[in-house]
Amino acid sequence: MEKTTDFRYNTGATKVPWAAVGENYNASDLMEIIRFLMQGEGEEYEQACSAVYEQVKKLDAVSTPPGKLTTGEQVEAAEQACNEYLGTDSSTFVTNATSGFEIAYKYAGLKEGDEVIVPAITFVATMAYPLAVGAKLVFADVDPRTINMDPADVERKITPKTKMIVPVHIGGYPVDLDPIMALAKKHNILVLEDAAHAFGAMYKGRHVGTIGDFAAFSFHEVKNITSFGEGGIATTNIPGFGSEMKRARFLGLDFSAPIKNWLYNITPIPGKEKPYVALNYSPTESQGLGLKLQVARNEEIIAKRRAAAEYLNSRFAGNDAIIPQDLGGEDIKPTFHLYLLQIDPAKAGGDVQTLKRKLDEKGVTNIPHFGPLYRFKVVSDMGYDPNEIAKSCPVCEEVFYHRFTHLPLYGLSDGQLEYMADAVLEAVAEMQQGR
Ligand SMILES: Cc1ncc(COP(=O)(O)O)c(C=O)c1O
Repeated sequence: MEKTTDFRYNTGATKVPWAAVGENYNASDLMEIIRFLMQGEGEEYEQACSAVYEQVKKLDAVSTPPGKLTTGEQVEAAEQACNEYLGTDSSTFVTNATSGFEIAYKYAGLKEGDEVIVPAITFVATMAYPLAVGAKLVFADVDPRTINMDPADVERKITPKTKMIVPVHIGGYPVDLDPIMALAKKHNILVLEDAAHAFGAMYKGRHVGTIGDFAAFSFHEVKNITSFGEGGIATTNIPGFGSEMKRARFLGLDFSAPIKNWLYNITPIPGKEKPYVALNYSPTESQGLGLKLQVARNEEIIAKRRAAAEYLNSRFAGNDAIIPQDLGGEDIKPTFHLYLLQIDPAKAGGDVQTLKRKLDEKGVTNIPHFGPLYRFKVVSDMGYDPNEIAKSCPVCEEVFYHRFTHLPLYGLSDGQLEYMADAVLEAVAEMQQGR
């Protein structure tokens, strides 16, 4: 068996090795994994499975299992693929985007009394760490066209206590980062890009997720590409922190350091103000392999999603009650993770709540995750007053309650896309007729 790169195991040609992997997967386990990844039923399916099982047993007899299942060469290869794709050298594969955010928040030394500016509309993961450590969340209002953080409102809400700004590229549409980066520089604030939806999006010729001080992409199963259901890539532009991120992912261990007297060392991670102790956010080799394979298809996937968005826009053109997805241009290239459908309530004869209900009735999935964060119970239970915050986020209130919903763009047949476009047009027509 090959020697692993991890100094804790010695799987080389020793007389008594400590194998990195205690119990390997055997042929029947592997068959269950194949059945899980390629599900089916019926006689033809069972026959195909039996044939595969016979071959897997033969393969088992002539193969050796991987020497390592947790973070190793496959994870490194996935990071390398992301580095090449994104044009960075700091990609660090972690368990999910939320843990990537945690590395950034810990570097900032976020604690009670500090303020973090997040957009009013995002997913709870963006604000979970600040909320958990008792930092104060400050909600920036959104741009009505993109529902992304509005830089002008960020500027109004910066105080001497602001430690971080967290732009979120919602639906994969890039936030206008130039003004945010300029504000951050002026006030010595760290920028963490929540690029969960935005792997492959471009802002003024640069990849989103490589512009802020930190960023994290998500490869949770619902995203454009995945690493077996969970996963994230964290990046940084903090000088010298790129190599520290690997240690920040796993308890502060440095696998490259020589061990003296059989005692290895675990050192703290340097933070902006003071060092901190790292936790464990290690991904597995299977996730590494899964991500590497899908990164190679990312551009193709974005192109298909874009084509679906263009189709919907073409169907909605000419109906001035419907405000279609902004497709971007030379400077802005979205990932089309979601289709942002908006209506003009005055012209549509009602607001988006009616539209959502009608789409539900017609069997069209609306994606409900992205709403005003300050309306979540966890926020009021932690002592915030949602109604007070709402007063400082009027655009968020207007777009959420009256104007927007998200539609899916991928994995749909031409017939399903057409049905969805018809359903939106019919629903709006019904609203205009007062039905
Ligand atoms: C906007 C946004 N940020 C962060 C996350 C968290 O990503 P992960 O599940 O990889 O932690 C999500 C996940 O859905 C998200 O939608």
